[in-house]
Amino acid sequence: MLSIIQMSDKKAISAGILGVGSYVPDRVLKNDDLEKMVDTSDEWISTRTGIKQRRIALPEQAASDIAIPAAKKALDAAKVLPKAIDLIIVATSTPDMHFPATACILQYKLKCTRAAAFDLSAACSGFIYALIVAQQFVNTGTAKYVLVVASEVLSKAVNWGDRETCVLFGDGAGAVVVGPVDKGYGILSAHLAAEGAGWDLLTLPGAGSRIPLTVESVRNGKHFISMNGKEVFKFAAKVMEEGSLKTLELAGLSKEDISLLIPHQANIRIIEHAAKKLGLPMEKVMVNIHKYGNTSASSIILAMDEALEQGLINTGDNILTIAFGAGLTWGAAVIRWV
Ligand code: ACO
Repeated sequence: MLSIIQMSDKKAISAGILGVGSYVPDRVLKNDDLEKMVDTSDEWISTRTGIKQRRIALPEQAASDIAIPAAKKALDAAKVLPKAIDLIIVATSTPDMHFPATACILQYKLKCTRAAAFDLSAACSGFIYALIVAQQFVNTGTAKYVLVVASEVLSKAVNWGDRETCVLFGDGAGAVVVGPVDKGYGILSAHLAAEGAGWDLLTLPGAGSRIPLTVESVRNGKHFISMNGKEVFKFAAKVMEEGSLKTLELAGLSKEDISLLIPHQANIRIIEHAAKKLGLPMEKVMVNIHKYGNTSASSIILAMDEALEQGLINTGDNILTIAFGAGLTWGAAVIRWV
């Protein structure tokens, strides 16, 4: 486990979020629509997951396409020009293609001509992982502005005949600009962790070097998400609590200091469990899973952008954010808003 705290040393530059943006495709797929596709019901999906609908990308929309409006909004909010971006990190499990990195496509389309660019694979924990990588570059002065993007088109990775997974996921993108902030603001603490022993609980096994894309692999559905939902649920419930407490402790804060918890939006029961264990009332928890489902790496930024639009985040607020995902990975961060 990596534990990160804001460095007090004079030379270290504190890093924070300067601007946030998000985008979801227009097409809405409601639980009622899914009832016509697989043996499920609105009642089952709502009570077991909290999801009522999700957004679905158009056939021609890839991860970079839905990331562009999110990134433009984040750049505008941060008042940072594309050419001032030093590095682009895209967290995604559904990149445009194996290579090049989706980050390179964004670098070109956003005209971030000076930026280095790479993708980061940490599934639903991808945003927190990318945020903390960005923080390290800003801390050392290696980069001034980093564009952190999360973009997922999971609708193209799920088996629409598998009711155990297809009801859960949705498409969406988010972006934040990470840059220098005054000491005592920005990312106060974080931790990143993995439990590789559980790598096989949530996979998209096909089209890699272990199971290359062949007619047979497609016939066997190896290009779809495969998940042991019960085991992932147990893991998530454990790390959401432990990770939150650990990160608060690193920041020297207690739960009373937290203005808003922004958790990964995977299942309302996991979110409620975490809030209960932390002793946080649900009014202090940002939830929008009912509208978008699980958008993997993008979910926290979608919730953060909505919280900002609703005036739920103000200067000086301590925001706790936590995610878990395939890998298995998890990560959390405490951010004092600028
Ligand atoms: N509609 C109707 N019935 C269903 C559906 C469905 N969509 N899906 C499963 N069922 C059935 C099962 O077949 C089972 O039937 P049975 O009792 O006859 O065998 C019954 O419902 C109960 O199934 P469970 O798996 O026990 O249901 P559970 O309450 O565990 O909920 C769920 C399943 C929602 C998947 C839950 O386990 C979960 O949320 N797990 C975490 C998943 C997750 O967060 N994944 C993403 C991780 S992040 C990332 O990296 C992408």
